[in-house]
Amino acid sequence: MAKLPIVLAPDPVLKQTCQPVETIDDDVRARLDDMVETMYAAPGIGLSAPQVADKRRLIVCDVAREGESAQVFKMVNPEIVWRSDEKVVAEEGCLSIPDHYGDVSRFREIKVTYLDPEGASQEVEANGLLSACIQHEIDHLDGVLFIDYLTPLKRNMILRKMKKLKRLQK
Ligand code: NI
Repeated sequence: MAKLPIVLAPDPVLKQTCQPVETIDDDVRARLDDMVETMYAAPGIGLSAPQVADKRRLIVCDVAREGESAQVFKMVNPEIVWRSDEKVVAEEGCLSIPDHYGDVSRFREIKVTYLDPEGASQEVEANGLLSACIQHEIDHLDGVLFIDYLTPLKRNMILRKMKKLKRLQK
């Protein structure tokens, strides 16, 4: 496994629509493992392929708290197939937008289908933090960031600060 560099916003790779995976092979499995390692090292609770400059529909997440045993999900081609009527607002952050946070409204519960690393179809019902995390990561696959839900004023302020941070890192 290898830790991958995380792409910081703003970057065109974070605004593209990712492509479905057609064949789950060793390359896909290795990428998922590297994404898990990168997520844990950050540390974060979720990571999507575009954040490591990969255009495939892959996400990983693990929302277990410290002291709880790991419960990692590796999802290929995840799709939300059911959403609760009820929504819930919670503060979110993103490894591609470090040190910035904002309130985002998400569906309280969702049902997600995906392929696991062996290519088997899986379905998971998620609520709470896992639900928000999966919605956040699937958004990434369609070029949507949590700051896109904020007011233009707040979004532009964060993007200005991110541009400055990226200039300083060069
Ligand atoms: Ni994110």
